This record gives sequence, structure tokens and C-alpha cells, in this order.
Amino acid sequence: MPRIISVTGQKGGIGKTTSTVHIASRLADLGFKTCIIDFDTTQSNATRSVIGPIWEQSEKVRGICDIMANGGGLDDVFYSTDRENLFIIPSEKRDHRGANYNIEALLNQLGLEGFNLLKDLIAESVELSSCHFVLIDNAPSLGITTVSSLLAADYFIIPVQTSDLSMESIGDTITAGLKVKRMQNPYLEPLGFFVASMDKRPKMAKKAIIELGELSTKTGIHFFETMIPISSKFGFLPRDKKTIFDTTKKSERGHREYLSLVDEILEQIKEIEMSETKSDQVKGPRKEA
Ligand SMILES: Nc1ncnc2c1ncn2[C@@H]1O[C@H](COP(=O)(O)OP(=O)(O)O)[C@@H](O)[C@H]1O
Ligand SMILES: [Mg+2]
Repeated sequence: MPRIISVTGQKGGIGKTTSTVHIASRLADLGFKTCIIDFDTTQSNATRSVIGPIWEQSEKVRGICDIMANGGGLDDVFYSTDRENLFIIPSEKRDHRGANYNIEALLNQLGLEGFNLLKDLIAESVELSSCHFVLIDNAPSLGITTVSSLLAADYFIIPVQTSDLSMESIGDTITAGLKVKRMQNPYLEPLGFFVASMDKRPKMAKKAIIELGELSTKTGIHFFETMIPISSKFGFLPRDKKTIFDTTKKSERGHREYLSLVDEILEQIKEIEMSETKSDQVKGPRKEA
């Protein structure tokens, strides 16, 4: 069974999609079969970054929205990519008539079933069950789509941006994740938060690191040591469907840090799972790794 990581954050533009694509690509490069689920169905930026805007193609290409709205399984929309070991369940943003999907409204209409729809679809997917990792990219909100992604996940991770640090929004995201864990999904574990774009101004950066350190102490949520620097190179990647690993040397800013972030994530997962083994009697065994 895969480890499912939900990349969450209430704010837009903080690096959710960029980090989802980079973490997933690195895991794939390490030999793990990895699938991205693009669950930011209004923007579909992960899809755009990995296989391009499928909704602009003349032939009808289906994605997760069609499955949720019209039925079928995720195996019907499990696409391979140019990268070995990397797969994507895309979001197609618009239907074949050109009308925008509103998955948030659809799930709300379905009520309890809506909250569990993503989880059930993932559980039924043979392709996903053969993956080592599934990364879910989310909308910049804590609405029903993000909550349903937390219900489906084993872990959540929160990217933060230091140039426009909103402790309130990070705090709200942590609270939402912990609430889902407490009430609905005891297997959900916070992996932690990490800086997905570090301010170049030393004073601002220092202040942000202190505040984030304090937040980590207060909440007990891990603050990743690796911080991704700001680099204009990230801006051109989605258009070319590339990652920083494909366009820069290992030693370059951004590339180096994403490699190290993924090492840290794997380490953090190992640590959590080792401590869980000890508490299995209380919680019941976790899904088989
Ligand atoms: N480390 C970084 N340095 C510079 N720009 C970045 C960095 N990470 C992401 N970006 C850019 O910031 C913008 C928002 O990032 P994105 O990942 O789309 O955020 P979100 O998914 O949270 O809305 C994008 O244009 C992206 O290319
Ligand atoms: Mg995004």
C-alpha cells in the first residue's frame, strides 16, 4: 500500500504545487513508484506542470473531476509521465463542453459521502495500491476538498513562504489537520512544515525562522531543517514541464535543497513509523508498507 501525503496550506502561492511536483519527482528518481493526485481542481497547476493543460487538447482527456462527477475509477485516469516511476491522476479543470467543474460544490452536495469520496476512490484503485508514494496537491483552502484529502492521507505536510509569513494561516492548517486526525482519521500524522521559498533579506529570514521555530515548539509539529531558497528558475519550470532536477546542476540553489528535503522527509516518515510500531497495540496495525 502507498504512503499517501497530502500537501496542504490555506494560502495560495506558497509553493504547494511546486513542492508536490518536486518531492514526487525526486521520490520517482529514487526508484519509488510515485503518483501525484492533482486535487486543486480549479487551477490544475500540478497537471499543467507535469503533463500540460490536458483540457486544451481537442480530444477528450478525462481526469479526476470527470470520475467524481460522472463515475468510474481512478485507474481510468492514471497517466504515466515522461519521468520514469512518476504517474499522475490529473485534474482536467473543464468538462468536454468547456464548462468549469465545481468539485467543492459537488462534494458538499454529497454530504458524508462527499467527504469520503476521494478516500474510497483511492482504496479501490489497483494502480495506486501498487505505488510507494501518493502525493495529493490541494486547493488553497481548508474546504471540503482539502478535508477529504486529509481523510484519505497517512501524512500531511505544510509548505510555508517566509516573504509573506502568515502564522495564522499555518496555525489554521495545522489545527485542521489535527482535527481530522482526532475525529476521523487516527492514522493521519503531521510530517511537519518546511520553508518552500526563503526570503533573500537576511533580517526577514531570521525573524521568520525564529517564529516558525516557536510554532514548532508550541505545536510539537516538526519544522524541517532544509529550506528551499527563492530562485527565479522555479517560475519557468511549469511551462516547460520540467523540474529543477532536469534544468540545473546538483550543486545549484533549489536543486540541492529539494534533494535534501526529500531525504529529510524519508527520514521523518521512518521515525514516525518506528515510533508507531511501538504503539500498535493501542492504535491497531497500520496499513502494510
Ligand atoms: N522557491 C521558489 N522560488 C521562487 N519561486 C517559487 C519557489 N517555489 C515556488 N515558486 C513560484 O511561486 C509561485 C507559486 O507557487 P505554487 O507552487 O504554484 O504555489 P501554490 O500551489 O501554493 O499556489 C509559482 O509561480 C512558482 O513557480
Ligand atoms: Mg497550487
